[in-house]
Amino acid sequence: MKISKHARHHYRKRNHDDPLTPYGNRPMVTPIVNAVNYEYLDFDVLQKITDGKIDGYTYHRDDNPTVRAVEKRIAELEGAEDCVVCTTGMAACSMVYLTYLRAGGHLILFHDIYGAHYKVSLILERLGVEVTWVDAADWKSVKDCIRPNTQMIFLETPSNPLCKVIDIAATKKMARKVGAMVVVDNTFATPYHQHPLELGADLVVHSATKALGGHNDLMAGAIAGSKEDYDKLWFTRQAIGTTLDAYSASLLERGLKTFPLRAERMASSAMAVAKHLAQCRGISGLHYPGLKSDDGRRISARQMEHGFGGMLAFDVGKTQEDAKRFISALRVIRHAVSLGSTESLICIPFLTTMLYMPPERRTLFGVKPNTVRLSVGIEPAAEILADIDQALKKVGKRK
Ligand SMILES: Cc1ncc(COP(=O)(O)O)c(C=O)c1O
Repeated sequence: MKISKHARHHYRKRNHDDPLTPYGNRPMVTPIVNAVNYEYLDFDVLQKITDGKIDGYTYHRDDNPTVRAVEKRIAELEGAEDCVVCTTGMAACSMVYLTYLRAGGHLILFHDIYGAHYKVSLILERLGVEVTWVDAADWKSVKDCIRPNTQMIFLETPSNPLCKVIDIAATKKMARKVGAMVVVDNTFATPYHQHPLELGADLVVHSATKALGGHNDLMAGAIAGSKEDYDKLWFTRQAIGTTLDAYSASLLERGLKTFPLRAERMASSAMAVAKHLAQCRGISGLHYPGLKSDDGRRISARQMEHGFGGMLAFDVGKTQEDAKRFISALRVIRHAVSLGSTESLICIPFLTTMLYMPPERRTLFGVKPNTVRLSVGIEPAAEILADIDQALKKVGKRK
């Protein structure tokens, strides 16, 4: 049986960025294209796709229209020329390392960073990359770490878990002297509050699993930068096969529609929570870049916009038992890892996100066994404050 010309016509239109209906209009939501492969209509199209002349599709590991739509949206949010989306935040970080680091090169990482980087650094060392870990608070040591073979400084600001703030422009100024690139993980800040590329960073990385997706229902990573970087990172993704599935890309696109609203609410509630915690007995070591008393406030005031994000860290009581009893008494705030979601989430980094690191490294830069990390959600701020109060009261530590 012959396939009609008409069917082929629609099929071709559906797989390109053309209008998607016979009336020339487009659906409000990018369709989920679940196809692994695409039927070639002719050899010319194949050649144009292969030469990168059109945004065409042949095989899902190479590219997918649902994924491409969300990439363009994240690029817009970050003020980037383009963006590559992939399976997880750690896939994004690893793709950056694999794409730009070489044996004999040198990578600078800050102690206060998502714990899985420690494991990746062991792999990089096996491949001949030198890795230096440094405390972001000790700016002089950071300067001293830079060497002629330094290829990259990778940082989070605010950092995970202590919400330390690093001056992106000043870091780039130092890196420039040896031609090193600066990569900023913008997961904690989000593009609602911070635009690292405008501050001099070469690339921005995201765990889009967090605030960009926002609903605890997808995993994804994103890397935003120049068109040239897009090509390099696309090469890596296609080679190693970290392409995001179309369904997660669609969920991510959906999450992005409410992202600014969620980010605004989280930041205003987090500021209220931070101010409240500053007054509470039994709470110490409070870190929130929006507090006037915070070590990073001078830089965050310059480098962040519309507020300071939804993440904060603090110590409860004196022992880990105190922190555990506090968390167990919470009713609104949920005890779980991850962050940036509609629900407020709390965890003890020492027992969760830092498990990847050997115990002696976990306390090197200020995290204590009783430090908790709070991701403020979109519940009314008054409910979050009341929850904290009732939990502190139960463990005998209210103001
Ligand atoms: C700041 C930051 N970057 C990267 C990651 C890794 O993201 P994913 O879990 O999506 O791989 C995380 C995970 O918690 C994170 O907090």
